[in-house]
Amino acid sequence: MQRLRVLFVIGSLGFLLLGLAACAQVSGEETKRQLATASELAQNVGQLQQLLQETRGELSALEQRVAETEKQVSGFTAAGALALDRTADIPDPPSGKVALRISFQYQPQPLPGNGLRAYEPTPGVNSLWAMESLPAGQPLPVGKPLPDSTLFLEPGESRLVTLAYQNPTAEDIGFLVLPHQEWPGALARYVWPTCLCMSFVYQAPANGAWYRVIRLTVSPDIPPGSKVDALWTVLTDPSVFPAVPEATVSKATPTPAAEATDLVALGKALAARQGCLVCHSVDGSPRVGPTWKGLFGKEETLTDGSTVKVDEAYLRESIVDPDAKVVKGFPAGVMPQDFGQKLSDEEIQALIEYIKTLR
Ligand code: HEC
Repeated sequence: MQRLRVLFVIGSLGFLLLGLAACAQVSGEETKRQLATASELAQNVGQLQQLLQETRGELSALEQRVAETEKQVSGFTAAGALALDRTADIPDPPSGKVALRISFQYQPQPLPGNGLRAYEPTPGVNSLWAMESLPAGQPLPVGKPLPDSTLFLEPGESRLVTLAYQNPTAEDIGFLVLPHQEWPGALARYVWPTCLCMSFVYQAPANGAWYRVIRLTVSPDIPPGSKVDALWTVLTDPSVFPAVPEATVSKATPTPAAEATDLVALGKALAARQGCLVCHSVDGSPRVGPTWKGLFGKEETLTDGSTVKVDEAYLRESIVDPDAKVVKGFPAGVMPQDFGQKLSDEEIQALIEYIKTLR
């Protein structure tokens, strides 16, 4: 009996051991599987971390771009506000008048020194278009600087202004002036500058100066109290503009002859711009109207058979009142009758000076 019990115990132990062994075997496999899963997970975590790091990099690049764009936007907004606000610092005009400020913006860099300035014109050099490059030491023929660069004009008023630049450097400086703009744009149609022309490089010799007389007119129907900023863009790239050619620098103070030449140039330009040359030739060939070649000083025959000597007075009358004396062989009432209103005295004089040169 005792032996049987011992056997039973041993048998039970055996089973137990076998069971344990089986258990151990199972859990070993389980552990292996778990270990594999763990290493797979660890690998995934590694990949995710790398992805995170890359994403962080992209995010910071994006953040930087956002910051840059924001900076640009605020720059544009400031520039826009400035453009809208160009009239804010123009002084108020006296009642019934308008304030017209003359201003310049320089591209790509400012002109050395004070840049272009607006002055009251001086008698003697105040004819429209008068312009010179002056060598060092020769004084600028200008009046007082315009306070705040601003003119106070009655509606319909015209004023001559001298624009001048004093070159403080030992280098010749050339610059080009682009057509003006007006702020606010809605008032642009009321402002009529007879001004700087863009097809010309202006020259200020070393330590010398340059000036030009322009005219600014405001239309009769500009609302009184208006403030307008007339802005010219001045191109100043020294690598583009050539040194001052000797011939353009004046050696002496302006002579009446120099002014007359300016008038002739103006007259020639006006003849083209006002359409005179559509009807009048300058080479003797016939058009709708008589040729201007050889006109000045000749005896003109009129429709009624009488003759008249072509002098300045006759030319002036023919321009402002074309039907007063009608040239034989040509129709009355064809030439526009309103040049007397459209052109200033000076412009009419310029046309006459031009016609006088057509021998
Ligand atoms: C649409 C055509 C036309 C236009 C534009 C025109 N004219 Fe005339 N012009 C004539 C005709 C036609 C005559 C001749 C009849 C007369 O004497 O009025 C004439 C005559 C003249 C005469 C007198 C010529 C002579 O032989 O005695 C002068 C000076 C003159 N014009 C100047 C001008 C000027 C300056 C302009 C521009 C600002 C101008 N004309 C524009 C048609 C024109």
